[in-house]
Amino acid sequence: MSDLSSLKQALEGLTLADSLRYVADNYGNVVFSSSFGQEDQVITDAIFKNDLPIRVFTLDTGRLFQETYDLMDTTKAKYQKEFETYFPDTAKVEALVKEKGFNSFYYSVENRKECCGIRKIQPLKRALAGAEIWITGLRSEQSDNRAGMEIVEWDEANKVIKFNPLIHWTYEEILAYIKENKVPDNPLHRKGFISIGCLPCTRAIQEGEHPRAGRWSWETSQKECGLHS
Ligand code: ADX
Ligand code: SF4
Repeated sequence: MSDLSSLKQALEGLTLADSLRYVADNYGNVVFSSSFGQEDQVITDAIFKNDLPIRVFTLDTGRLFQETYDLMDTTKAKYQKEFETYFPDTAKVEALVKEKGFNSFYYSVENRKECCGIRKIQPLKRALAGAEIWITGLRSEQSDNRAGMEIVEWDEANKVIKFNPLIHWTYEEILAYIKENKVPDNPLHRKGFISIGCLPCTRAIQEGEHPRAGRWSWETSQKECGLHS
């Protein structure tokens, strides 16, 4: 805990790039999980442009939008840098589909969490193995569940320090960074998709709707897949 508060203190007032550099210099095995959302593209830009020794990975659930796959290639080409892609366990996906079909997530929250478990949570555990710091693009504005999150936290589920460098950024600040630094982002953001996950579980939002209203929109749950519960 005291470790966390001294880290928090050390990060105070640093720019995004400097805060990323600080954790990279002071910890072993620093990893960043990117879903290729706008927040994540901001962090990727800071890591890649500054050549920081931070391993970038994404979790490919197998159900993403084509536009997201296109953005993965565009990002690789722009920065000339590699990221790692983690896939779900083949046998588990095959068993799930055999038992419950291709769209089981629509039938209950339990089924949906089972699919997120196989396609996201379990691969995340492999990706985080041995990591000391896990960087995410979470922002407190995104939801009530995220409002109480801090810039650094202990993640008990994965036994890792979680670093959320954008936790206090507003959406406007994210957009300004993207514009100023010409960061590539997903064209779906211009079609009503703010928060983008898997295709069958994400819809565009209407004006006035909450930015995460398009995620698992048929549910009244907390709308978390379990990565950040
Ligand atoms: S989710 O839990 O609802 O899917 P969200 O899309 O808001 O999460 O993204 C929050 C953070 O979780 C991202 O900034 C990223 O660090 C991580 N994340 C979410 N989805 C993925 C993914 N498919 N691959 C890697 N990281 C992800
Ligand atoms: Fe499965 Fe939907 Fe979760 Fe993606 S978001 S892993 S398709 S339940």
